Amino acid sequence: MSNTEAAKPAPSKGGGLAGMVVADSSISFVDGAAGILEYRGYDIRELAAHSHFEEVAYLLWNGHLPSAKELQEMKAQARACLFLPPEIIAALRNLPKGAEPMSVMRSAVSMLAHYDPESEDSTPVAHQHKACRLLGQISGVLAAFERIRKGAEPVKPRMDLDHAANFLWMLSGEAPDPLAAKALDQYLLLLAEHELNASTFSARVTASTGSDLHSAITSAVGTLKGPLHGAAVQEAMEQFLEIGTIDNVGPWFTQVRAAGRRVMGMGHRVYKVRDPRAAPLMANVEKMVEATGERGWFDIARKLEAIAMQEPYFRERNLSANVDFYSAPLLYSLGIPVDTFTCVFTMSRIAGWTAHVYEQQANNRLIRPLANYVGLHQVPYVPIEQRR
Ligand code: ACO
Repeated sequence: MSNTEAAKPAPSKGGGLAGMVVADSSISFVDGAAGILEYRGYDIRELAAHSHFEEVAYLLWNGHLPSAKELQEMKAQARACLFLPPEIIAALRNLPKGAEPMSVMRSAVSMLAHYDPESEDSTPVAHQHKACRLLGQISGVLAAFERIRKGAEPVKPRMDLDHAANFLWMLSGEAPDPLAAKALDQYLLLLAEHELNASTFSARVTASTGSDLHSAITSAVGTLKGPLHGAAVQEAMEQFLEIGTIDNVGPWFTQVRAAGRRVMGMGHRVYKVRDPRAAPLMANVEKMVEATGERGWFDIARKLEAIAMQEPYFRERNLSANVDFYSAPLLYSLGIPVDTFTCVFTMSRIAGWTAHVYEQQANNRLIRPLANYVGLHQVPYVPIEQRR
């Protein structure tokens, strides 16, 4: 073999790091074959039935459910952080018209570091404060951005409302409907954490270099933005809108299969059965659509899932509904603009990301894997005037 021939590597067994264990973690457990998800040992279905988002955030951060006093303190701190530094509101006003919402979130998290008195303090206490602040600030940023781009003034948060209800209040300036607030709270709870998904892994990689929390979360937000990960929820809704009517589900599916397009909101790297979060999400969206009388998008989703599950292609590849499939009609039924669905996902996953950054830093080793090199070797340098 000449030295400029391509090396003949052993076939890569780790494409996309599938199936590889890269960290010890006690934050969440996923059994993809059995369809089980636990946060700190608690089954997600149990938590969805009895808990709420802020309590779950506390659980993820601390490893135990809070006492009444601990929960009250944590809520007070996060609510105070819904009030954003005026410089952040000013920056949101100065963004270009039509700024892409997830890019706004990414920039905002990065900017928030400049106004955080503990941004470069990596002690456990400072981490706890910053995580709690980010949890509050991210929803404040999203609500303020959405108001500003509509030409409205940001709405001040209320200290008497829980996280989900406060977000709906800041978004609309109207007292939130309890059913809608509960449905959003459940959504935030169900998506708060999911082991080493791509964005959490990004956060841990950044944290493993010894960098700060805001940098790690900025990496995570940028990673969540991709359509194979967090933006699948927006694309799932866009596909339901494209289908348009219940009668068009079958013809649309035939066309999409013929074109080799993916059905968004289906398939998962880890789950080989239906995502355990899909059923509680589906139950919530059903309650919402019963209340609003607008079943359309939910019925389209259900029919699409039923048709896909009949198809050998989907069965052979274990492609089932993932968390995004029913999140899409749920968020739509809450009146949240489709292009901000992934930002709402950010409001939830901030709880898991910050827990992982803390875990990484508490027992750190730089994350630095290897590549299977498939390129050339020892290529002689050609001066520029001799190149074609
Ligand atoms: N629709 C149609 N075919 C699919 C889909 C889909 N949604 N997902 C995977 N496939 C097919 C692939 O074409 C491939 O077929 P092949 O074996 O004939 O080549 C096979 O299933 C395996 O697909 P991969 O992309 O290799 O599987 P991977 O584990 O890398 O991908 C992923 C998982 C990215 C989630 C994929 O299923 C997908 O793209 N789904 C749609 C996007 C989506 O919903 N993402 C959200 C995931 S959940 C989350 O991140 C919060």
